[in-house]
Amino acid sequence: MDSIPIIDLKDYVKGSDLLVQNVSRACEELGMFQVINHGVPQDICQKVMATLLEFFQLPYEERAQFFTEDQSEQVKIFSYSLKLDDQKKVAMWSETFSHPWHPTQGFTHLLPKYPPQYRDVFAEYAREIGALMSMLFGLMSQGLGLEKDCIEKRVGDRPNLYSLANYYPPCPQPELTLGLNEHNDITALTVLLQLDGVTGLQVYKDGNWVTVEPVPGALVIILPDQMQVLTNGRYKSAVHRAVTNKWLPRVSLALFYAPNDETVIGPIENLISEDHPPNYRSYRYKEFMEEFHRQVGQRRRVKETFEI
Ligand code: OGA
Ligand code: NI
Repeated sequence: MDSIPIIDLKDYVKGSDLLVQNVSRACEELGMFQVINHGVPQDICQKVMATLLEFFQLPYEERAQFFTEDQSEQVKIFSYSLKLDDQKKVAMWSETFSHPWHPTQGFTHLLPKYPPQYRDVFAEYAREIGALMSMLFGLMSQGLGLEKDCIEKRVGDRPNLYSLANYYPPCPQPELTLGLNEHNDITALTVLLQLDGVTGLQVYKDGNWVTVEPVPGALVIILPDQMQVLTNGRYKSAVHRAVTNKWLPRVSLALFYAPNDETVIGPIENLISEDHPPNYRSYRYKEFMEEFHRQVGQRRRVKETFEI
């Protein structure tokens, strides 16, 4: 009970009903699961992790060009922080590198020149994750009895695709801090890759923090807030956080799939009935993001402000 589901996607091509059921159960109960045999070659996953580790360990001068507090920058390194009751800001024990990604469009000219393989490795990984996300949206739609392309269509065209790579250096006193405070992802879908052999990610389950063990070759699927709203609460947005450790640096890479600013998000009509009235009002994603920015530095509760 104190572990999260591991779902084998090797049956996908056969269109297995059991697979659809396993996915929808994990989405309904926890909003998080790991996938294996997902079709993303393991050597690409290993290369992207090794490249990120190299990037975060580049000399300060090389990374400094990306440091900014301007959240509107497309490519940036920043640190999360929390405002305490006395309004003092405390930084989390991590550094985060954010930039766009896209499975097919050229985006790599925006990315770092060092390490030299960064752009190629990332482009390859992005292509693979794009295909996987489409497959997952399909399974998640089918799990609700919807047309296979329903959720992806509702998340809308011209999605906002960006990645967050997190670097957690070893921490002398992990019990005094966190790598990343508890949160819900705000987008529509997250695929997270974590470094083999180093734990850190935890999910809130039945009142406890449960460690998401790195499984070699696995990817972690996290359901964000837009998925909870679109499914009128049938699927859960997972509450999660990252802790640090004393011994080893840890890297994780989250690829997000978000609606564009103008897309209207609200419960899918087929999931609404007299017995299941809408739990959320519809909004433009831009409104959601404005509320998100208003709650900066807090344990955010963004979708809650759109509850009916
Ligand atoms: C995130 C996240 C967890 C981790 O970037 O949104 O939840 O394991 N990361 O680093
Ligand atoms: Ni997250």
